[in-house]
Amino acid sequence: MEILSVFHAFLIIEIMFISVLVVSCNHISMKGNSRSNFLFGTASSSYQFEGAFLNDGKGLSNWDVFTHEPGRILDGSTGDVAVDQYHLYQEDFDIMNYTGVNSYRFSISWARILPKGRFGKVNRAGIDHYMKFIDALLLRGIQPFVTLTHFDIPQELEERYGSWLSPHLQEDFSYYANICFKFFGDKVKYWSTFNEPNVMVLRGYMYGTNPPSRCSPPYGNCSSGDSEREPFIAAHNIILSHAAAVNIYRTKYQKKQGGSTGIVMNSIWFEPISSSLEDKLAAERAQSFFFNWFLDPILHGRYPAEMHELLGDDLPVFSKFDREILKTGLDFIGINHYTSFYAKDCMFSPCEPGKGASRIEGYALRTALKDGVYIGEPTSIEGLYVYPEGMQKAVTYIKERYNNTPMFITENGYGVEEMPNSTDDELLHDVKRVEYLRSYFEALADTMRSDGADVRGYFVWSLLDNFEWTYGYTIRFGLYRVDYGTLKRTPRLSAAWYRQFIADNPLQILSAHE
Ligand code: GAL
Repeated sequence: MEILSVFHAFLIIEIMFISVLVVSCNHISMKGNSRSNFLFGTASSSYQFEGAFLNDGKGLSNWDVFTHEPGRILDGSTGDVAVDQYHLYQEDFDIMNYTGVNSYRFSISWARILPKGRFGKVNRAGIDHYMKFIDALLLRGIQPFVTLTHFDIPQELEERYGSWLSPHLQEDFSYYANICFKFFGDKVKYWSTFNEPNVMVLRGYMYGTNPPSRCSPPYGNCSSGDSEREPFIAAHNIILSHAAAVNIYRTKYQKKQGGSTGIVMNSIWFEPISSSLEDKLAAERAQSFFFNWFLDPILHGRYPAEMHELLGDDLPVFSKFDREILKTGLDFIGINHYTSFYAKDCMFSPCEPGKGASRIEGYALRTALKDGVYIGEPTSIEGLYVYPEGMQKAVTYIKERYNNTPMFITENGYGVEEMPNSTDDELLHDVKRVEYLRSYFEALADTMRSDGADVRGYFVWSLLDNFEWTYGYTIRFGLYRVDYGTLKRTPRLSAAWYRQFIADNPLQILSAHE
């Protein structure tokens, strides 16, 4: 209650400012879209939000182990407590309810359900927790949009056989997915198998910055690994794990439970740095080596041609049996979109060294600068630039390449580093975040109207500040500020803005009261 009244006071103070912003975004309402079930929500993940890292029988995850190793996380922190959503979810769902969202994207902690993977028992307390969690959402009319794994997996599987490097993981993932469908499938209508497997394998097996931190020079500095091969092996096992899980859903549950399944990918828009054919082809290769890498096999049954050409035998091969399983496809594509880069050809002419320039990255150098000017305003996170047109171009590209498969923007948001000694006003008056969200919405709405892109929902990352992976708690993405000493949630200007935006949106009004 206290939070809500602070929020009201805040709203009154800010109301004039917000009205200006709302007026300026009225023209972007999605009236043209006839679907009445458009999802507006916020997104999160188990490791970044839950805390309660060994409570009620949960097993260790790879991220629990990684963050406890010295030097891994910028501020030396861990997700042991995070924002303690494990205990504070009722309060968080009240906030969501107040904000007016009709969906919440979160992930299940695999190690909370299966502390030892399939080599141990199902943790009943974990099942009960998510059951209560999901019921509490539904009670408020908020649809659960569930990711099965958002980077965290039981450590047991890492230790037994090197996690995603082993084809055994396909069996583990199917086993876990089946349990989730069985227990929660009557209540959950949106399932995504993976969050950003592209980011997961690149950071985990090419650059080595995330667990299991494997890589080889010059891509990173790890004690073991093979950057030229392992990312592609891990990706292959993930693609087949996705297919196996979707297959289980289709054959055992979908008819009865009536839900849908998809995969969430990180999407970067790559803009050719010049109008030359070489740079256009480089931008296309950059897309293939980052995004199409996973979706082409899932939706077209094979890896992109550019990957075959450049990787040769380093690219694993789908067997006849695999190709059969892959036909199971998906029902929707989840798109996490935050940034764009220029792509510069390195195949036909030599490039300076940099991300993207090598053979295994598609010979397409990523750069944010063209003639000394950034593609978009830099943010506090390296590599994230504000370029809303990138959202539009990425959605149109994905729509065309994958035959307008239904899409959700499963993440989009703005991170800032809080300066010590900031005033309260500076901590809460997040005008830049509001501008970011408004401009990306505008770009999305344009694509939906002008290109007929079948986008069915939008999730802001995130409702609350939270554990930002290797940045620890130094970068804040929340519509609500979290005081990490007390865990108190306080609304920022962007929370009021999002609430007002949703309230003004006719699509939302229809869906929320159906
Ligand atoms: C995404 C990731 C999220 C969150 C976000 C903000 O790549 O899926 O977990 O950290 O970035 O940087």
